[in-house]
Amino acid sequence: MVDGMDPALALTSDPLLADELGRLAAAAGVPLRLVADGFAGGAADRTLAAWSSAPLVLVGADRAAELAALAPARRPGVLVVCWSPPPDGAFRDALLLGAERVLELPAAAPWVTEALIDLGEAGRGDGALLGVLGGSGGAGATTLACALAQVAAERGPTLLVDLDPLGPGCERMLALDAQPGVRWDSLGRASGRLSARSLREAVPRGDGPGVLGFTAHPLPLEASAVREALSAARRGHDTVVVDLPRAGGTEETLARCDLVVLVVVPSYAGVTAAARRLAAVADPSRVGLVVRGRGADPARVADLVGAPALAVMPDQRGLDEALDLGLGPVRSRRSPLARAARAVLAAATDPGAVAA
Ligand SMILES: Nc1ncnc2c1ncn2[C@@H]1O[C@H](COP(=O)(O)OP(=O)(O)O)[C@@H](O)[C@H]1O
Ligand SMILES: [Mg+2]
Repeated sequence: MVDGMDPALALTSDPLLADELGRLAAAAGVPLRLVADGFAGGAADRTLAAWSSAPLVLVGADRAAELAALAPARRPGVLVVCWSPPPDGAFRDALLLGAERVLELPAAAPWVTEALIDLGEAGRGDGALLGVLGGSGGAGATTLACALAQVAAERGPTLLVDLDPLGPGCERMLALDAQPGVRWDSLGRASGRLSARSLREAVPRGDGPGVLGFTAHPLPLEASAVREALSAARRGHDTVVVDLPRAGGTEETLARCDLVVLVVVPSYAGVTAAARRLAAVADPSRVGLVVRGRGADPARVADLVGAPALAVMPDQRGLDEALDLGLGPVRSRRSPLARAARAVLAAATDPGAVAA
């Protein structure tokens, strides 16, 4: 049970429904306050006060019409629950109450559980979403994404999301591939709501960032699974770093990123390819560049590509060795990749950095 948490509110006079909701709340480790009586007299005021203050309200369909008649103020986090099939009027009452949906038990029990589990995350706000994109093949996007996640994880809960099924695999890079945990193949099939805490606790994680990655034989990702996972990831972490593929189905994710980092190799081909990649981004205003290697003037690269330079990512000696040792690309705070990652994270928290 999470200490000090306000209880969720269940309003129902159906003893079986009350039992089931109590059981689901206990399984989620969340306190539940049951209001089983009518709303006559002072009870209406008490109910309306609880309605406003509870972090989640589960309204039994048996009491929904009566509650709607009290015209409670609209609020998020209201669910109408009932046994299947829903009684007449359940959907109308849900609409009047501004409920998010009608959940039919017992089939929707996992949905109720996930909503309850998420209460522990309420109020933490969404974490930053950083996308990393290669300006050309082999530019160093995956390496930088892993480095960013490692450095961000020193500051707060961080998740690295691998969206490139043809890359080396972020789990491999951080030596988490042998760890048990949830991967895309199981999330891709899940339907309905994914709780922030469940995701955070289910992915492979060592001392550093968690990773949501692919299995050895990746299946194509459904857009809805990616959307749901990224939204749960942000609710449950301070920072979410996404390793994006260079092509194919990334537009929606790009549009959601607070900052997109484009890794540019400062050669003729590298700059030209990066400019083309940038031109394919719907909103280029949130894109900043990381220039690979020390060989070029970042301001000149920025001019040529058409986006501001956030950092230089120098070549790091012994990178393969660090990866072989399972240390990930950042093996010390003073390494070139750690410095580059810190510069990018600083830019991510400074909205002026990219627009400048
Ligand atoms: N900063 C760096 N220093 C040295 N080698 C690097 C650096 N960044 C990337 N590499 C190497 O470049 C190759 C491609 O890197 P990767 O991150 O997989 O690129 P991408 O994801 O853009 O295709 C890998 O062999 C990687 O070890
Ligand atoms: Mg890659």
